[in-house]
This record gives sequence, structure tokens and C-alpha cells, in this order.
Amino acid sequence: MSSRTDAAAPDEVAPRAVLRQVDGYEISDDPGRIDVEAVHAYLRGAYWSPNIPVEIVQRALRASLCIGAYAPGGAQVGLCRLITDYATFCYVSDVYVLEAHRGRGLSKAMMQAAVEHPRLQGLRRWSLVTHDAHGLYEQFGFRVIAHPQRHMERLDSQIYLRAAQRDDPA
Ligand SMILES: CC(C)(COP(=O)(O)OP(=O)(O)OC[C@H]1O[C@@H](n2cnc3c(N)ncnc32)[C@H](O)[C@@H]1OP(=O)(O)O)[C@@H](O)C(=O)NCCC(=O)NCCS
Repeated sequence: MSSRTDAAAPDEVAPRAVLRQVDGYEISDDPGRIDVEAVHAYLRGAYWSPNIPVEIVQRALRASLCIGAYAPGGAQVGLCRLITDYATFCYVSDVYVLEAHRGRGLSKAMMQAAVEHPRLQGLRRWSLVTHDAHGLYEQFGFRVIAHPQRHMERLDSQIYLRAAQRDDPA
């Protein structure tokens, strides 16, 4: 006998075209709307991923639950990339809004869509790293790590810069 129930398992919930709307902008988890070139254009200059190659961005986007912000004309102007097992854990990554579109609540709308997303309910831990946007994430229940000594990382922050120097030794 099958153990399946009538309700769709969280990993079977189809992406919904529009999760939220803000001032004519749309917040969507539709993978078909992601503009890899636009995302790469931002991330290659971001302080956390300088020089990241487009192939790496593409692979990361494919393997993540991506919530995008789209301007009224359809152009992608923001991203919140969620790295998750859909069961216990979610790491919030690559959160940005292009400068011309900031200050109208788009990052808050993406974060709201993330924490309310049907595929991300009941997780034990959410995590992220930020230089200075603590005030944004605090609004969604994030707190500075209570026991930092228990957390470890293996970080190579120069990885894409070194690769670029190898490709162009001059
Ligand atoms: C941070 C960022 C995504 C905010 O996007 P936005 O759409 O302009 O933000 P919103 O209009 O949704 O408002 C953000 C809220 O977080 C607060 N906040 C806290 N720290 C912030 C910060 N460093 N930058 C922007 N907002 C911040 C704002 O005050 C605002 O709260 P309020 O409306 O209650 O006053 C955007 O400024 C950005 O892309 N910055 C560069 C990339 C970056 O630093 N990303 C975060 C990496 S962890």
C-alpha cells in the first residue's frame, strides 16, 4: 500500500507565478522567469561573489529555490536565492535589489515570500550571512547567532578572483 496521502508533498508544490505584488512589481518563484545574465551582471560585482563566472551562477540558480523581483515591464531587478533540503534547513543567499528599484519594499516582499513559502514550512533552521543588513532580516525572525563558537565554516572568499587571475596572468 502506498504511503502517499492526498495532499501534495512539499516538494511537489508547483512554483506559483506570482507570490506577491508591490507597486506593480511582481515577486515570483517561477524558475522560467529567472534572467541568468541579469543575475550574473549583479553578482559578479557584489561584495560577496566578486568575479563569479556565469556558469557557476547558472548552476547555483538551477539547484536553488529562487524568488525574483520583476519590474512592471518584466525585467528582473532582484533576487533571493534559497539553498534548502526542503525538510530541515534553508540558507538565504544572494539577496539584492538593483539600486534604481530600492526603497520600495522589494527585499522585504522577497523575504516575506521566502518565509511563507509552502515548500519551506516546518524547517528547523534558517541561516544567512550579512555585513550590514541585519535590520532587514530581523524583521523576519533572524537573530545574531547565540553561540558562534558552535558554528564552523570552510570559506574561500577569493576563489573567483584567483581563477580570473589564472585565466589572465597579465
Ligand atoms: C539590502 C537590499 C536588498 C534592500 O533592498 P530594498 O528593496 O531597497 O529594501 P526594502 O525597501 O525592502 O527595505 C529594507 C528594509 O531593511 C532595512 N535595512 C536594514 N539594513 C539594511 C541595509 N543594509 N540596506 C538596506 N536596507 C536595510 C531598511 O531600513 C528597510 O526596513 P524598513 O522599511 O522597516 O525601514 C538592497 O539595498 C541591496 O540590494 N543592497 C546591496 C546588496 C546587499 O547588501 N544585499 C544584502 C546582502 S546580505
